[in-house]
Amino acid sequence: MTTTVAKDAMRKGDKTVIAEGTRMIPIYVMGKRYYVPETLTIQKAMEYAGYQFIRSCGCRGGICGACATVYRLEGDYKLYSGLACQTVVQPNMYLVQIPFFPANKAAYDIEKLPYDITAIQETYPETFRCVQCNACTKVCPMDLEVMYYMAAAIRGDIEAVAEMSRSCIMCGLCTSRCPAETNQYNMAELCRRLYGRYGQKKSKNVAKRVEEIKAGKYDPMIKELQSLSLDELKKRYEEREWEPVISEGWEPKETKYL
Ligand code: SF4
Ligand code: SF4
Ligand code: FES
Repeated sequence: MTTTVAKDAMRKGDKTVIAEGTRMIPIYVMGKRYYVPETLTIQKAMEYAGYQFIRSCGCRGGICGACATVYRLEGDYKLYSGLACQTVVQPNMYLVQIPFFPANKAAYDIEKLPYDITAIQETYPETFRCVQCNACTKVCPMDLEVMYYMAAAIRGDIEAVAEMSRSCIMCGLCTSRCPAETNQYNMAELCRRLYGRYGQKKSKNVAKRVEEIKAGKYDPMIKELQSLSLDELKKRYEEREWEPVISEGWEPKETKYL
């Protein structure tokens, strides 16, 4: 069944404008059928149907990982998954909101962990139960090679885990599929922290800037900003100099903030 969306169907808040003539399709949320515009993401379609996101929603842009969603399609036995803010609805999509994955999150003192495989063994021993089935890779909305970074962890290659998992948004979908009940994403975060702390080359520029901050170089500038009125702040913001997309060799006209 299809109907046409009214001309003035502009959603408030995210300013979604539904084009005239957009087809309405049925989706099911927790067993109840709703007709929603076919162009919407799951998140916007649920809001269109009257739901309000208080949890399971953050950036709305595929970055924060808060909106992991599992769904089925009519007549299809497969279980699909995706980010609700990025996945467009399909006719007869059956949606169920799932709770956040209560994955093991180890407590550790990064200063006391060794920079080798024993750090992983001590904090996330379940990593070594991985049977290399690849279910985690298939479900990852960021197209990360999750199984490969698990293999790197089992070899104790902390740098490889860090590099391969850099775009992880901590959505937890990999964990939801793991037959070995491992916790890929928290383990990978540990490796990124370890690599940042012990493995990665230190940046001279960052060290210099930290010293400048400690020495109070920016205190007068912050005080000046704090003294401005809201209108003055807005004016400064609107008139600020923009860094170009390709900024190699670029310097702002005003260099006292560098
Ligand atoms: S690795 Fe796991 S937690 Fe990270 S983005 Fe992929 S599925 Fe989500
Ligand atoms: S789903 Fe679990 S067992 Fe399978 S490859 Fe990924 S981490 Fe290993
Ligand atoms: S709301 Fe942040 S990834 Fe979907």
